[in-house]
Amino acid sequence: MCGIVGYIGTQRAVDILVGGLEKLEYRGYDSAGIATIYDEQLTAVRAKGKLHNLRTKLENNVNYAQIGIGHTRWATHGKPEEYNAHPHGDNQGRFAVVQNGIVENYQELRQELKQKGHNFVSDTDTEVIPHLLAEYYNPDGDDPFMDAVMKAVHRLEGAFAIALLCADYPEELIVARQNAPLIIGFGQGEFFCASDVTALVNHTNAVLALENGEIGRLTPLGVELYDFGGKRLRRTPRVLDWSPVTVEKQGFRHFMLKEIHEQPSVVRTCLEVYFNPDWQRKSTKPVNLNLSSELTDDLENIQIVACGTSWHASLVGKYLLEQIAEIPTFVQYASEYRYSPSPIMANTMTIGVTQSGETADTLAALGMERQRRSRLDKPYRPRIVGISNRPESTLGGMVDQLINTYAGIEIGVAATKTFVAQVMAFYVLALDLAWQRKTISPERIDQILAGLLQLPTQIEKILQTEEGKIEDLAHNFPETRDFVFLGRGINFPIALEGALKLKEISYIHAEGYPAGEMKHGPIALLDAHVPVVAIAMGGSVYEKVISNAQEAKARDARLIGIVPQSYDDEVFHDILNVPEVEELLSPILAVIPLQLLSYYIASLRGLDVDQPRNLAKSVTVE
Ligand code: F6R
Repeated sequence: MCGIVGYIGTQRAVDILVGGLEKLEYRGYDSAGIATIYDEQLTAVRAKGKLHNLRTKLENNVNYAQIGIGHTRWATHGKPEEYNAHPHGDNQGRFAVVQNGIVENYQELRQELKQKGHNFVSDTDTEVIPHLLAEYYNPDGDDPFMDAVMKAVHRLEGAFAIALLCADYPEELIVARQNAPLIIGFGQGEFFCASDVTALVNHTNAVLALENGEIGRLTPLGVELYDFGGKRLRRTPRVLDWSPVTVEKQGFRHFMLKEIHEQPSVVRTCLEVYFNPDWQRKSTKPVNLNLSSELTDDLENIQIVACGTSWHASLVGKYLLEQIAEIPTFVQYASEYRYSPSPIMANTMTIGVTQSGETADTLAALGMERQRRSRLDKPYRPRIVGISNRPESTLGGMVDQLINTYAGIEIGVAATKTFVAQVMAFYVLALDLAWQRKTISPERIDQILAGLLQLPTQIEKILQTEEGKIEDLAHNFPETRDFVFLGRGINFPIALEGALKLKEISYIHAEGYPAGEMKHGPIALLDAHVPVVAIAMGGSVYEKVISNAQEAKARDARLIGIVPQSYDDEVFHDILNVPEVEELLSPILAVIPLQLLSYYIASLRGLDVDQPRNLAKSVTVE
């Protein structure tokens, strides 16, 4: 939510800032803006709407500044208008500030500053920051800019990552972080900062993630780090193994489509990393997860906290952990859990699942759980696990153990490959725990592993044979306003995920239901205008789903079936096939046609698939 960038060096800052914002636009696109210092002048250019509006404004702008900050906004406080766009300034035009986060006590600060004569021109929480800097700025002090920042950050409550310029310091860029991501990039005589490494990989692979309560001073000579108390800190940057290509579309029309097509290799990588090729049924483990024995020895329950699509992956995870490893598992919305946590239970593992590794609700729920656990387990025992594709994220730094899904970065706002990768991580975890607890036989483990190894080619097959069909099918819904998705058992979460994908990128209202629940109310919604997608994979609930689909057909609904290849009935009006696979493994295949269906419906409607309205890829506010 909101992306910030900063640059100081020898190149033209405007180009670097706009290039960086382009890579961060997935974090918000309500407005964009930059501020630079050139010839001792601090100037800001801002535009409502997407980045191209800012680009247009900058077209004839001759600005050779070598220092600057930039922002792409996801509106929280104040409408998406130019006057609310960042950077924000003080009344003397000395400071410029960009922020990602929310200053929770901004109203109180605004009141206080107003009484001291400060004039506010926006509705944002951020605007209090430059005014605080102006209030604390003492040009006769030892280190006026840094001193003002140190004082200001102590007044801010909430979560924030900020980048700051001061007109009196044309060779200094200051950044600070409290519960919102901020990465510093190290180049040759040039330094960068950004909310995400995606904005940095075109320039450098050497990065350092600022930690909570830290301030960085970037100058052409280097980077100095301090804590909020002013103590100097020393840390070494890490080298990322990413290439700029990772964040390009590589010939696909949208990132979402590229990421859907990356799924066979995402599953392959997960299997290569975790599957133990020496698995001999007895002595060695089937998968190499290396969870610490402190986490698993006396494990009695698992609770999972997540949001959105990651929550859906967690529901599949619950099914696997309960059915394969026989561990009672509870899945909670992180946003609910943080304010009404379940009573704390001994011997419980808590797992946070997140593709961005930055979701504020998930991080807060895990943070709270860590505190509760340290009161229960004395001394503290590691009980908190993360599942994510972003080991360098805030989540990566706060959990006791991270299960890296190796899906890499996802740019399309709608999660696709990261969902499949999270589900894969749950197969690996469930198999590991099942093996340790001997809840299934080695023969059954063999069977599951053999099935998992088939998945990459099976996904490729769906992409080859069904994508064209799905694109054609998508033409049938230009006016459709509502969709219903049905699934049961392990595929109920896939019905939820199919509905979420469709709503978020096509803006069509969609609901996912357990197929058996239809008759308890939702069936009243059905008529010829409401298509129903039923996930009828072979297995224990196949017949049940088919009869639930029949009930929908009897209400004139157009029926689309996600069915195995062998299906030869005539219940459905449209059929999307997936290869034959055992029920336990079917979610990974069933979700692919649903991702494609929502993609093609949205793209035929001419919508901005990668950056749907009102959404952001990384939800760093509550
Ligand atoms: C949907 C989607 C969101 C996220 C949710 C949680 O396509 O991407 O629902 O799943 O905002 O985000 P993470 O996984 O980053 O915690």
